[in-house]
Amino acid sequence: MISIEKSSKPLKGHVYVPGDKSISHRSVMFGALAEGTTEITGFLEGADCLSTIDCFRKLGIQIEHTQRPVHGVPTITVHGRGLHGLSAPDTGLFTGNSGTTTRLIAGILAAQPFDTVLTGDNSIEQRPMNRIIKPLTQMGADISSLKGNDCAPLIIKGGKRLHGITYHSPVASAQVKSCILLAGLYSDSDTVVYEPALSRNHTEIMLRAYGADIHNEVDVKGSAAAILHPGSPLRGIKVNVPGDISSAAYFIAAALLVPGSDIVIHNVGINKTRSGILCVLKQMGADIELENVDESIEPRADLHVRYSQLHGGVNGRFELSGKLIPTMIDELPIFAVVAASANCTTIIKDAAELKVKESNRIDAICNNLKLMGVDIEPTDDGMIINGGRPFVAADIETEGDHRIAMSFAIAALAANGQTRIIDDKCVGISYPAFFNDLKRLLL
Ligand code: S3P
Repeated sequence: MISIEKSSKPLKGHVYVPGDKSISHRSVMFGALAEGTTEITGFLEGADCLSTIDCFRKLGIQIEHTQRPVHGVPTITVHGRGLHGLSAPDTGLFTGNSGTTTRLIAGILAAQPFDTVLTGDNSIEQRPMNRIIKPLTQMGADISSLKGNDCAPLIIKGGKRLHGITYHSPVASAQVKSCILLAGLYSDSDTVVYEPALSRNHTEIMLRAYGADIHNEVDVKGSAAAILHPGSPLRGIKVNVPGDISSAAYFIAAALLVPGSDIVIHNVGINKTRSGILCVLKQMGADIELENVDESIEPRADLHVRYSQLHGGVNGRFELSGKLIPTMIDELPIFAVVAASANCTTIIKDAAELKVKESNRIDAICNNLKLMGVDIEPTDDGMIINGGRPFVAADIETEGDHRIAMSFAIAALAANGQTRIIDDKCVGISYPAFFNDLKRLLL
């Protein structure tokens, strides 16, 4: 448990947030399937990405982990063994709290010559896996839920010949898309995944860099497809992971909430499929400047954020829905905190996916913000926030969800009294040094 008081001081100074979680996972996974060595700098050493390393070590991949003194960032070296180089693990694979590890690795395991059992912690065992079981089964895989409840543990039988499919995913989910595409690497024909809106496209961008024949297409109606033509071998590359915009979002929010704040967050990934939070906050009047923009294949920039009074759009209302939602899905908890402090009504729609994240985030956001005195109501696919009331301190139940813990640690900076974050340890899933970095910005 950690207690946090209303901040009497502004946030000032510079911070590097840890590496992007999605890119870190993928760099290890694709490195394992590539021929030759993949060297990764800026890898996120959070529990989720360490679960990915652990799983691939159990699959026979040699992965070295060294600490180099460049901003304290580690280097991970993955000795890839090619698409067909994994070996059968001695035990089941445990993915901890990581949905990305579970769903992406399932696509790879479905194509192996050996059987595996895949499971994770209590939260993972409650998250829907039918969304990957269904398309993988269509591709010819043998994958089932041990308890028959469409959740992990998953039993994956090896030795199946996979076929490419054209799949219309009902959800804009990068985990579903990536799982199918990874199975597609082993299939005998093209794999095409359509999604209702383009979800984060790191798999497409990175697999291409590793040598795969893969690209995105977005048609005039905005319908998005990822298209993979199998047959090209993957080759090890150097990956320089940018800072995670999802982690940066907490400090952006803190600077916007605490008067007088002026901070720079360095080297943050600004891939367009991830940076919806920046567009939305700017529309609400946030002073966020992008400096030193670097248009690498995964673009990045320094974010200069100054305290700003936020406002709604037309008639003091702000609506967030549709294709924007996947571009800021993990930032919705912290966005809700910012919106609750702004003098406007914010309506979040089309975000039912929040119910099946590490916790039911619609409930976790609404229940905890209500405890802090906010006028907020959950809806089937989002929430309605009547912002502008002062926050009051509360005891926050995180449900073991890292993003809820960090969002409410930031809300606490603007709340009268002492807020207690019960179970603050879960921040280690994606940002082990979160509280230290926050403290340094408040010095
Ligand atoms: C992720 C995709 C998103 C996101 C998660 C990471 C990824 O999940 O919420 O934190 O790395 O592919 P969905 O694909 O289920 O939306």
